[in-house]
Amino acid sequence: MKISIVGTGYVGLVSGACFADQRHQVICVDLDEARIDAINRGKAPFHEKGLDELLETHAGKNLAGSTDLRQALLDSEMTFVAVGTPFDGSHIDLGAIKAACRQIGEALREKPDYHTVIIKSTVIPGTTDNVVRGILEDASGKQAGTDFGLGMNPEFLTEGTAVDDFQYPDRIVLGGIDQRTIDLQKEAYAGFPDTPVIETNNTTAEMIKYASNAVLATLISFSNEIANLCTAIGDIDVVDVMEGVHKARYFTSRLADGRSVTAPITSFLYAGCGFGGSCLPKDVSALVAQGRDLGLPMELLDSVLRINRRQPGKLIELLESHFGDLADKRVTVLGLAFKPDTDDLRETPAVPVIRMLLERNALVKAYDPVVSTVQASAARLGFDSVQYSPSLTSAIEGSDAAVIVTRWDEFTDLPALVKKLPNPPVIVDGRRIIPPALVPEYLGIGLAPE
Ligand code: UGA
Repeated sequence: MKISIVGTGYVGLVSGACFADQRHQVICVDLDEARIDAINRGKAPFHEKGLDELLETHAGKNLAGSTDLRQALLDSEMTFVAVGTPFDGSHIDLGAIKAACRQIGEALREKPDYHTVIIKSTVIPGTTDNVVRGILEDASGKQAGTDFGLGMNPEFLTEGTAVDDFQYPDRIVLGGIDQRTIDLQKEAYAGFPDTPVIETNNTTAEMIKYASNAVLATLISFSNEIANLCTAIGDIDVVDVMEGVHKARYFTSRLADGRSVTAPITSFLYAGCGFGGSCLPKDVSALVAQGRDLGLPMELLDSVLRINRRQPGKLIELLESHFGDLADKRVTVLGLAFKPDTDDLRETPAVPVIRMLLERNALVKAYDPVVSTVQASAARLGFDSVQYSPSLTSAIEGSDAAVIVTRWDEFTDLPALVKKLPNPPVIVDGRRIIPPALVPEYLGIGLAPE
């Protein structure tokens, strides 16, 4: 099939490279010439595991980059729109989607053949039918459903494992204005015959994406609310509580041979210092805003966000319970990325943690295995007085406290490292990855300070 994809962010480019791997003929379109040059040289313009290899294999053969959206559309049968939907704090900004769809519509006007347009960007329910359709019809002078197909195919890629997620999908959701649009998408995904396919309308497809992320965020905030109550009651460790919850038959099945299998969803049922990233906070906020706009307060999801906003502050409460005033206390923040195995700083809980420490005049050091000093300053964390350490060892030397914000594997070395120090720092565990007994002094989310 001849496929064009507008937008070469991690969703657009991973999808493009994987469609090429499925032997489709793919054109990836972006306004950014440097990106397109990199793609045509077989190099990924950002780090995503396995992407370089795919581009190397397919660039110049059945994968091309282009800045010419019109030509890409004329040369393909189906166009996926995977441009960004930035967030203004409550609503997503559809500016890029609208601009791309206007150009797609203008190109459609010139194209005699039937064409299919599929929205892949995450957009609030109703956007494809109520916003995109009108723009495409106005710009093309054509009729959706008759002259061109219009569909919605959400992505379920996780940063860091996006290529694997595409190549081994758990489900494929195909929204469409009509059966023809859905059937054409099935052709694009013909290489995944064993994957469950959900055929539906565009608005339902949009909602499936939001509901999928909202349930994950809800479980995280649920775990954190229970953790905070455990801290307040005392004599309870939330880690033991969650282990007990995970063992329920709803989460862990016992097989006939005696082995047990734990459902992956339990990885969202752990206490911590809150969720971040480019998806969960933004998607839940956008749903809450949509509910509010419709006069339907989203009470549960509103609380999910509220609990999440407060959660980084729980680390500061733990520090204050131990030290009292934090002025001039040397505190090391361990982990800047919003989750392990990425250098992504978007909505990371590290930012509020550092901000609150500086407000209390603590002397702050920070270390992340991947986010370098340059990146951290480039991302304008805006914390001039924070000293960035080049290694975990140097980060904790001379510190009064080390606060774990990101669940990096490397931080499990802490018990061995702190033992070597004459004055070991108190470990403040925002991800509950260190067994308390292994370090001289320990504080953790969901565990009352002694
Ligand atoms: C999320 C979803 O997991 C993907 O299924 C979805 O496709 C993607 O959004 C998307 O919409 O594109 P992602 O944001 O990359 O993926 O990362 P997650 O692994 O879900 O982690 C999100 C945040 O939750 C991280 O800050 C992590 O530290 C936090 N988290 C996770 C917790 O605070 N507690 C937990 O128990 C689990």
